[in-house]
Amino acid sequence: MWTISVVVPGEAAGLFQLALEPFCVAVAAEIHGPHWRVTGYCEDPPATGALDAALGVAAAGAGIAPPRPMLAALPATDWLAENRKSFPPVRVGRFYIHRTHHDRPPAGGRIAIRLDASLAFGSGTHASTQGVLVALDALARRRRFRRVLDLGTGSGILAIAAAKLWPARVVATDIEPNSVRMTRENAAANGVMPRIAAHVGPGLRAVPRGLRFDLVLANIQVRPLTSLAPAIRRRIGPGAHVVLSGLLRADEAEALAAYRAQGLVLAARHPLGDWVTLVMRRLAKA
Ligand SMILES: C[S@@+](CC[C@H](N)C(=O)[O-])C[C@H]1O[C@@H](n2cnc3c(N)ncnc32)[C@H](O)[C@@H]1O
Repeated sequence: MWTISVVVPGEAAGLFQLALEPFCVAVAAEIHGPHWRVTGYCEDPPATGALDAALGVAAAGAGIAPPRPMLAALPATDWLAENRKSFPPVRVGRFYIHRTHHDRPPAGGRIAIRLDASLAFGSGTHASTQGVLVALDALARRRRFRRVLDLGTGSGILAIAAAKLWPARVVATDIEPNSVRMTRENAAANGVMPRIAAHVGPGLRAVPRGLRFDLVLANIQVRPLTSLAPAIRRRIGPGAHVVLSGLLRADEAEALAAYRAQGLVLAARHPLGDWVTLVMRRLAKA
Protein backbone atom coordinates (compact mmCIF):
# COMPACT_ATOMS: atom_id res chain seq x y z
CA MET A 1 0.00 0.00 0.00
CA TRP A 2 1.02 3.60 -0.64
CA THR A 3 -0.20 6.92 0.69
CA ILE A 4 -0.37 10.22 -1.20
CA SER A 5 -1.00 13.25 0.98
CA VAL A 6 -1.40 16.98 0.45
CA VAL A 7 -1.86 19.76 2.99
CA VAL A 8 -4.40 22.37 1.86
CA PRO A 9 -6.77 25.04 3.29
CA GLY A 10 -9.95 23.60 4.83
CA GLU A 11 -12.23 25.02 2.10
CA ALA A 12 -10.15 23.18 -0.55
CA ALA A 13 -10.05 19.78 1.18
CA GLY A 14 -13.19 18.48 -0.57
CA LEU A 15 -11.79 19.28 -4.05
CA PHE A 16 -8.54 17.48 -3.27
CA GLN A 17 -10.41 14.45 -1.87
CA LEU A 18 -12.25 14.23 -5.21
CA ALA A 19 -8.96 14.69 -7.11
CA LEU A 20 -7.27 11.80 -5.27
CA GLU A 21 -10.21 9.39 -5.46
CA PRO A 22 -9.49 8.00 -8.99
CA PHE A 23 -5.99 6.96 -7.86
CA CYS A 24 -6.92 5.49 -4.48
CA VAL A 25 -8.98 2.81 -2.76
CA ALA A 26 -9.78 5.24 0.08
CA VAL A 27 -9.31 8.94 0.81
CA ALA A 28 -9.49 10.61 4.22
CA ALA A 29 -9.22 14.23 5.40
CA GLU A 30 -8.17 15.45 8.84
CA ILE A 31 -7.40 18.79 10.46
CA HIS A 32 -3.65 19.47 10.36
CA GLY A 33 -2.76 22.64 12.32
CA PRO A 34 -4.45 25.57 10.56
CA HIS A 35 -4.93 23.48 7.36
CA TRP A 36 -6.28 20.06 6.41
CA ARG A 37 -4.30 17.00 5.35
CA VAL A 38 -5.96 14.90 2.63
CA THR A 39 -4.53 11.38 2.40
CA GLY A 40 -5.25 8.82 -0.30
CA TYR A 41 -4.48 5.13 0.14
CA CYS A 42 -3.56 3.32 -3.08
CA GLU A 43 -2.39 -0.15 -4.01
CA ASP A 44 0.27 1.09 -6.48
CA PRO A 45 2.09 4.41 -6.72
CA PRO A 46 0.17 6.62 -9.20
CA ALA A 47 1.67 7.89 -12.47
CA THR A 48 3.05 11.27 -11.44
CA GLY A 49 1.94 13.08 -14.65
CA ALA A 50 -1.71 12.12 -14.12
CA LEU A 51 -1.55 12.87 -10.40
CA ASP A 52 0.04 16.30 -10.97
CA ALA A 53 -2.63 17.10 -13.57
CA ALA A 54 -5.47 16.12 -11.20
CA LEU A 55 -3.96 18.16 -8.35
CA GLY A 56 -3.47 21.09 -10.73
CA VAL A 57 -7.18 21.04 -11.65
CA ALA A 58 -8.20 20.91 -7.96
CA ALA A 59 -5.79 23.75 -7.14
CA ALA A 60 -7.16 25.89 -9.97
CA GLY A 61 -10.72 25.20 -8.72
CA ALA A 62 -9.71 26.23 -5.20
CA GLY A 63 -7.76 29.28 -6.41
CA ILE A 64 -4.49 28.16 -4.78
CA ALA A 65 -1.04 27.07 -5.98
CA PRO A 66 -0.81 23.28 -6.56
CA PRO A 67 0.37 21.63 -3.31
CA ARG A 68 3.37 19.27 -3.38
CA PRO A 69 2.08 15.68 -2.96
CA MET A 70 3.95 13.47 -0.50
CA LEU A 71 4.15 9.82 -1.49
CA ALA A 72 5.06 7.11 1.04
CA ALA A 73 5.10 3.30 1.03
CA LEU A 74 3.22 1.65 3.90
CA PRO A 75 4.81 -1.47 5.40
CA ALA A 76 2.81 -4.72 5.00
CA THR A 77 0.53 -4.83 8.02
CA ASP A 78 -2.38 -6.66 9.59
CA TRP A 79 -4.76 -3.74 9.02
CA LEU A 80 -7.55 -5.01 11.23
CA ALA A 81 -5.17 -5.48 14.16
CA GLU A 82 -3.62 -2.05 13.51
CA ASN A 83 -7.03 -0.44 13.29
CA ARG A 84 -8.00 -1.85 16.68
CA LYS A 85 -4.70 -0.69 18.20
CA SER A 86 -4.81 2.79 16.75
CA PHE A 87 -8.45 3.36 17.65
CA PRO A 88 -8.89 2.29 21.23
CA PRO A 89 -12.31 3.13 22.72
CA VAL A 90 -12.80 6.81 23.56
CA ARG A 91 -14.71 7.98 26.65
CA VAL A 92 -16.15 11.51 26.56
CA GLY A 93 -18.72 12.53 29.16
CA ARG A 94 -21.24 9.67 29.23
CA PHE A 95 -20.30 8.57 25.69
CA TYR A 96 -18.23 5.49 24.97
CA ILE A 97 -17.10 5.43 21.32
CA HIS A 98 -15.81 2.11 20.07
CA ARG A 99 -14.81 0.75 16.68
CA THR A 100 -15.88 -2.84 16.36
CA HIS A 101 -18.18 -5.37 17.92
CA HIS A 102 -15.08 -6.72 19.75
CA ASP A 103 -15.08 -3.75 22.12
CA ARG A 104 -17.63 -4.24 24.84
CA PRO A 105 -18.95 -1.01 26.38
CA PRO A 106 -18.51 -0.86 30.15
CA ALA A 107 -21.59 -0.96 32.35
CA GLY A 108 -22.69 2.08 34.35
CA GLY A 109 -24.89 4.38 32.33
CA ARG A 110 -22.49 4.86 29.42
CA ILE A 111 -24.00 5.65 26.02
CA ALA A 112 -22.20 3.46 23.46
CA ILE A 113 -21.59 4.65 19.90
CA ARG A 114 -20.17 2.08 17.50
CA LEU A 115 -18.28 3.88 14.79
CA ASP A 116 -16.40 3.39 11.55
CA ALA A 117 -14.76 6.71 10.64
CA SER A 118 -12.32 5.33 8.06
CA LEU A 119 -13.50 7.57 5.20
CA ALA A 120 -14.77 10.56 7.14
CA PHE A 121 -13.74 12.94 9.92
CA GLY A 122 -15.27 12.12 13.29
CA SER A 123 -13.57 9.26 15.12
CA GLY A 124 -14.20 10.93 18.47
CA THR A 125 -10.53 11.58 19.16
CA HIS A 126 -10.39 15.25 18.05
CA ALA A 127 -10.92 17.99 20.63
CA SER A 128 -13.46 19.76 18.38
CA THR A 129 -15.68 16.63 18.32
CA GLN A 130 -15.15 15.98 22.02
CA GLY A 131 -16.16 19.56 22.87
CA VAL A 132 -19.56 18.99 21.21
CA LEU A 133 -20.03 15.64 22.95
CA VAL A 134 -19.32 17.31 26.31
CA ALA A 135 -21.80 20.08 25.42
CA LEU A 136 -24.48 17.52 24.43
CA ASP A 137 -23.97 15.60 27.67
CA ALA A 138 -24.40 18.83 29.68
CA LEU A 139 -27.48 19.96 27.68
CA ALA A 140 -29.13 16.56 28.11
CA ARG A 141 -29.07 16.95 31.89
CA ARG A 142 -31.40 19.96 31.60
CA ARG A 143 -33.34 19.73 28.34
CA ARG A 144 -34.86 17.57 25.65
CA PHE A 145 -34.62 18.38 21.96
CA ARG A 146 -36.98 17.21 19.24
CA ARG A 147 -35.45 18.46 15.97
CA VAL A 148 -31.67 18.40 15.57
CA LEU A 149 -29.51 19.54 12.66
CA ASP A 150 -25.89 18.28 12.40
CA LEU A 151 -24.07 20.43 9.82
CA GLY A 152 -20.81 18.86 8.59
CA THR A 153 -21.64 15.45 10.01
CA GLY A 154 -18.44 13.59 8.96
CA SER A 155 -18.83 10.04 10.32
CA GLY A 156 -22.23 10.99 11.80
CA ILE A 157 -20.88 10.81 15.34
CA LEU A 158 -22.73 13.89 16.65
CA ALA A 159 -25.99 13.05 14.88
CA ILE A 160 -25.88 9.56 16.42
CA ALA A 161 -25.00 10.96 19.85
CA ALA A 162 -28.03 13.30 19.68
CA ALA A 163 -30.32 10.47 18.49
CA LYS A 164 -29.15 8.36 21.44
CA LEU A 165 -29.74 11.13 23.99
CA TRP A 166 -33.24 12.13 22.83
CA PRO A 167 -36.04 10.54 20.80
CA ALA A 168 -35.34 13.33 18.30
CA ARG A 169 -35.44 13.46 14.51
CA VAL A 170 -32.02 14.44 13.15
CA VAL A 171 -30.99 15.92 9.80
CA ALA A 172 -27.27 15.37 9.05
CA THR A 173 -25.51 17.02 6.10
CA ASP A 174 -22.02 17.13 4.63
CA ILE A 175 -20.37 18.34 1.44
CA GLU A 176 -18.63 14.94 1.18
CA PRO A 177 -20.65 12.06 -0.31
CA ASN A 178 -18.39 9.61 1.58
CA SER A 179 -19.33 11.23 4.88
CA VAL A 180 -23.03 10.95 4.14
CA ARG A 181 -22.61 7.28 3.20
CA MET A 182 -20.63 6.59 6.41
CA THR A 183 -23.24 8.47 8.45
CA ARG A 184 -26.01 6.23 7.09
CA GLU A 185 -23.96 3.08 7.75
CA ASN A 186 -22.99 4.19 11.26
CA ALA A 187 -26.56 5.24 12.05
CA ALA A 188 -27.79 1.79 10.98
CA ALA A 189 -25.07 0.06 13.08
CA ASN A 190 -26.29 2.04 16.08
CA GLY A 191 -29.99 1.32 15.52
CA VAL A 192 -30.94 5.00 15.02
CA MET A 193 -31.15 5.09 11.22
CA PRO A 194 -34.92 5.59 11.07
CA ARG A 195 -34.51 8.92 12.89
CA ILE A 196 -31.47 10.25 10.97
CA ALA A 197 -31.87 11.70 7.47
CA ALA A 198 -28.47 12.33 5.85
CA HIS A 199 -28.03 14.57 2.78
CA VAL A 200 -25.08 15.75 0.65
CA GLY A 201 -24.67 19.50 0.18
CA PRO A 202 -23.06 22.68 1.47
CA GLY A 203 -24.33 24.60 4.46
CA LEU A 204 -28.11 24.80 4.79
CA ARG A 205 -28.70 24.09 1.11
CA ALA A 206 -29.03 20.35 1.70
CA VAL A 207 -31.57 20.82 4.48
CA PRO A 208 -35.16 20.18 3.39
CA ARG A 209 -37.14 23.42 3.07
CA GLY A 210 -39.53 24.37 5.83
CA LEU A 211 -37.79 22.43 8.61
CA ARG A 212 -36.91 24.35 11.78
CA PHE A 213 -34.67 23.04 14.54
CA ASP A 214 -34.39 23.44 18.29
CA LEU A 215 -30.74 22.26 18.29
CA VAL A 216 -28.05 22.83 15.64
CA LEU A 217 -24.60 21.21 15.87
CA ALA A 218 -21.85 22.54 13.61
CA ASN A 219 -18.26 21.38 13.96
CA ILE A 220 -16.86 22.94 10.80
CA GLN A 221 -14.39 25.83 11.03
CA VAL A 222 -14.58 29.50 11.83
CA ARG A 223 -15.06 30.82 8.29
CA PRO A 224 -17.98 28.63 7.22
CA LEU A 225 -19.46 28.98 10.71
CA THR A 226 -19.50 32.77 10.59
CA SER A 227 -20.88 32.94 7.06
CA LEU A 228 -23.60 30.39 7.94
CA ALA A 229 -24.84 32.40 10.96
CA PRO A 230 -27.76 34.21 9.20
CA ALA A 231 -28.93 31.01 7.44
CA ILE A 232 -28.80 29.05 10.72
CA ARG A 233 -30.71 31.82 12.51
CA ARG A 234 -33.53 31.56 9.93
CA ARG A 235 -33.92 27.83 10.67
CA ILE A 236 -34.18 27.99 14.48
CA GLY A 237 -37.00 28.99 16.80
CA PRO A 238 -36.96 31.01 20.03
CA GLY A 239 -35.05 29.21 22.81
CA ALA A 240 -33.14 27.03 20.31
CA HIS A 241 -29.49 26.13 20.94
CA VAL A 242 -26.61 26.21 18.45
CA VAL A 243 -23.37 24.38 19.31
CA LEU A 244 -20.36 25.75 17.41
CA SER A 245 -17.09 23.84 17.22
CA GLY A 246 -13.97 23.50 15.09
CA LEU A 247 -12.87 26.80 16.65
CA LEU A 248 -9.34 27.52 17.77
CA ARG A 249 -9.37 29.78 20.81
CA ALA A 250 -8.09 32.58 18.60
CA ASP A 251 -11.30 32.22 16.50
CA GLU A 252 -13.66 32.47 19.45
CA ALA A 253 -14.31 36.24 19.35
CA GLU A 254 -15.10 36.20 15.61
CA ALA A 255 -17.59 33.33 15.94
CA LEU A 256 -19.23 34.91 18.99
CA ALA A 257 -19.65 38.24 17.22
CA ALA A 258 -21.27 36.59 14.17
CA TYR A 259 -23.88 34.76 16.26
CA ARG A 260 -24.50 37.66 18.68
CA ALA A 261 -25.27 39.78 15.61
CA GLN A 262 -28.08 37.28 14.91
CA GLY A 263 -29.55 37.77 18.40
CA LEU A 264 -28.05 34.67 20.04
CA VAL A 265 -26.38 34.73 23.45
CA LEU A 266 -23.55 32.64 24.85
CA ALA A 267 -25.00 29.90 27.09
CA ALA A 268 -21.84 27.86 27.75
CA ARG A 269 -18.28 27.34 26.53
CA HIS A 270 -16.21 24.17 26.69
CA PRO A 271 -12.47 24.73 26.13
CA LEU A 272 -10.31 21.66 25.37
CA GLY A 273 -6.62 22.26 24.69
CA ASP A 274 -6.25 24.82 21.88
CA TRP A 275 -9.90 24.35 20.88
CA VAL A 276 -13.16 25.71 22.20
CA THR A 277 -16.81 24.74 21.73
CA LEU A 278 -19.48 27.43 22.16
CA VAL A 279 -23.12 26.81 23.07
CA MET A 280 -25.27 29.71 21.82
CA ARG A 281 -28.97 30.20 22.59
CA ARG A 282 -31.61 32.20 20.78
CA LEU A 283 -33.50 34.22 23.35
CA ALA A 284 -37.07 33.07 23.90
CA LYS A 285 -38.43 36.48 22.79
CA ALA A 286 -35.86 37.21 20.03
C1 LIG B 1 -14.35 18.82 11.50
S1 LIG B 1 -15.36 17.73 10.56
C2 LIG B 1 -16.60 17.34 11.77
C3 LIG B 1 -17.12 15.93 11.67
C4 LIG B 1 -18.03 15.52 12.83
N1 LIG B 1 -19.24 16.32 12.85
C5 LIG B 1 -17.31 15.65 14.15
O1 LIG B 1 -17.71 16.47 14.97
O2 LIG B 1 -16.34 14.91 14.37
C6 LIG B 1 -16.14 18.87 9.47
C7 LIG B 1 -17.03 18.22 8.43
O3 LIG B 1 -17.73 19.27 7.79
C8 LIG B 1 -17.79 19.06 6.40
N2 LIG B 1 -17.96 20.40 5.83
C9 LIG B 1 -17.03 21.36 5.63
N3 LIG B 1 -17.60 22.49 5.15
C10 LIG B 1 -18.93 22.23 5.02
C11 LIG B 1 -20.07 22.98 4.57
N4 LIG B 1 -19.94 24.24 4.15
N5 LIG B 1 -21.28 22.40 4.59
C12 LIG B 1 -21.44 21.12 5.02
N6 LIG B 1 -20.41 20.36 5.45
C13 LIG B 1 -19.17 20.90 5.45
C14 LIG B 1 -16.50 18.34 6.08
O4 LIG B 1 -16.62 17.57 4.90
C15 LIG B 1 -16.31 17.47 7.33
O5 LIG B 1 -16.88 16.18 7.18
